[in-house]
Amino acid sequence: MRKLLIVGSGGREHAIAWSLRNTGSERGELFCAPGNAGIAQVAQVVDIRVDEHEELAAFAESQRIDLTFVGPEAPLATGIVDLFESRGLPIVGPTRAAARLEGSKIFAKEFMSRHAVPTAAFRTADSPSDAVAHIKTGEFGPADSAVVIKADGLAAGKGVVVAASHAEAEKAIEDLMVHHSAGKEAAQQVVIEQALTGREASVLVFADGRDYAVMPAARDHKRIGENDTGPNTGGMGTITDASVLDKAWQWRVVKDMVEPTLAGAEREGFPFKGVLFLGVMLTTDGPKLLEYNVRFGDPETQAILVRLKTDLGQIFQAIREGTLGRLKVEWAGGASACVVAANRGYPGKYESGAEIQGLEAIDESRVHVFHAGTSHAPNGKVIATGGRVLGVTAAADDLSGALDLCYESLGKISWPGMQFRRDIGRPLVSLADVESL
Ligand SMILES: Nc1ncnc2c1ncn2[C@@H]1O[C@H](COP(=O)(O)OP(=O)(O)O)[C@@H](O)[C@H]1O
Ligand SMILES: [Mg+2]
Repeated sequence: MRKLLIVGSGGREHAIAWSLRNTGSERGELFCAPGNAGIAQVAQVVDIRVDEHEELAAFAESQRIDLTFVGPEAPLATGIVDLFESRGLPIVGPTRAAARLEGSKIFAKEFMSRHAVPTAAFRTADSPSDAVAHIKTGEFGPADSAVVIKADGLAAGKGVVVAASHAEAEKAIEDLMVHHSAGKEAAQQVVIEQALTGREASVLVFADGRDYAVMPAARDHKRIGENDTGPNTGGMGTITDASVLDKAWQWRVVKDMVEPTLAGAEREGFPFKGVLFLGVMLTTDGPKLLEYNVRFGDPETQAILVRLKTDLGQIFQAIREGTLGRLKVEWAGGASACVVAANRGYPGKYESGAEIQGLEAIDESRVHVFHAGTSHAPNGKVIATGGRVLGVTAAADDLSGALDLCYESLGKISWPGMQFRRDIGRPLVSLADVESL
């Protein structure tokens, strides 16, 4: 692999950059725009923002970049892949049309219906009164039952409310559609959805439009507080191990969701190329698809890529060329974990700017500290500037081994205001328990 460009600046992009180096046999040049202080250790960071598509294309052109890979959803939804392709610049990722699977929840739900992908029953509405009327019909159960309200558009994790009752749902509709709690654009329309119960799993696949390779399933921890309390965040930790999704369930996810999605996308004229992320609820009635993302998750990626054995650059190339079916994508057995350390106050208004101590004490042969929100101070020191700051990540033979490595390392790192959850990967009720509910 010669010259690669990664677009993005978070822990996900640091893990991608690290993995390209770690799994790649060739040592080409690696760029990342705009990157962060950790990414600067493995790639040349370039001062262009992810929404500056023209500038990114001009950079790729002038540098003769051999392949560009896009981390976050926003540039995909606004057509960065289409722009690069129209200029003949090699890029891996879904087109704007394919990115609607994430960019519009209504498009995604209707797509699932067209292709018989199992999902929660739903209605759509383009006004608050319409939305409330759907709830009042009783099709989402009596007034004291839970119901889910989702903003149609991209909302950076703020667009979904799992309401415990119809009264709460009505309030959520008002917050989203009248008070624009998820931004002005995102909730012009909403989805009203049956509330499901069960365990969640994130299933990611590499896809080249037709063929796919499944990654180890991951479990995210969304809430800021231990025992899943407090507000939602971008993700405070992830694990991968066999307990997340056993073979039989994985088979169903692949057959009932991944395959019909890829076939459906191709039939509808937007073959999906890139990383497809399925947010799945494992219910007593089988797996149900909650949502698609059209890119790597953050922090799922960190825990997943530390188990990758195949050259990631070669996988990207195969996606581009449509030859994924001929490439054997291999993973280390065992388990992995990523524990996120954040700044005090996150996910609300958070502190920023403290110097991070102890990074040099980490055993980099076994533990990877992926940077999410870090910068260099003028004196060269690494400072904690983001909400989520670091993702401390390790793979091991089993989950407790991976978690021990993460927590032991977190004990060596500190800054004023550092916070992290101490319960990442703690066992949930087993699926057998769910089944007996
Ligand atoms: N139908 C549903 N029933 C119960 N919980 C849901 C349902 N849909 C979503 N959720 C919960 O809300 C979270 C966010 O929903 P999701 O569709 O993944 O949207 P986003 O990630 O774009 O905010 C899910 O991870 C899940 O915990
Ligand atoms: Mg989600």
